[in-house]
Amino acid sequence: MSYKIIVVHGPNLNLLGKRETDVYGQNTLEDINQQLQELADSMNIEVKIMQSNSEGEIVSFIGENMGWADGIVINPAAYTHTSVAIRDAISALDIPTAEVHLSNVFKREGFRHFSYITPVSTGVICGFGADGYLLALEAVVRQIKLRKE
Ligand code: DQA
Repeated sequence: MSYKIIVVHGPNLNLLGKRETDVYGQNTLEDINQQLQELADSMNIEVKIMQSNSEGEIVSFIGENMGWADGIVINPAAYTHTSVAIRDAISALDIPTAEVHLSNVFKREGFRHFSYITPVSTGVICGFGADGYLLALEAVVRQIKLRKE
C-alpha cells in the first residue's frame, strides 16, 4: 500500500535561494520539492506539496486533506511562532506530523524558540537545511508504519 503525505511550506519559503542564504541555504523551493518527489517515488509514496504565504490557505489545505493524508511534513515558517489556527488544523487530523525548520531556530532570536506547532507534532527536525525535509519524510513514513502495525 502506498502512503499519502502532505508537505506544507509556509510564508516566504517561496523565496528560498534568494532569501537570507547564509541562514536558509542556496536551495530553491523547486530544488527541495524535486528532491522530495524523487525520494517519495523511490519509497512508493504519494505526496501533495503546497506553499502559501496565507495562514488561511494553509489551514484550509490541511483540513481538506483530512481522510486523504496519512502523515504531514510541515515547515510553518513564521506561523510556527504565531498560529493557533495551524496548530488546531494539525491536531484535528491526528496523524504523524514532522515539524521542519531549515535553520536551527534555537540558535536564533528568542521569539523563534517558542512553537505553537511542536505540541501537536510527533517530532521536530531543525538545523539541517533542505535535508531536514527528506529526513522528515522518512521519519513520518516510519511513524505511520508503527501506528498501523
Ligand atoms: C524557519 C524558521 C522560522 O523562524 C522563520 O520564520 C522562517 C523559516 C526555518 O525553516 O528555519 O521563515 O521555519
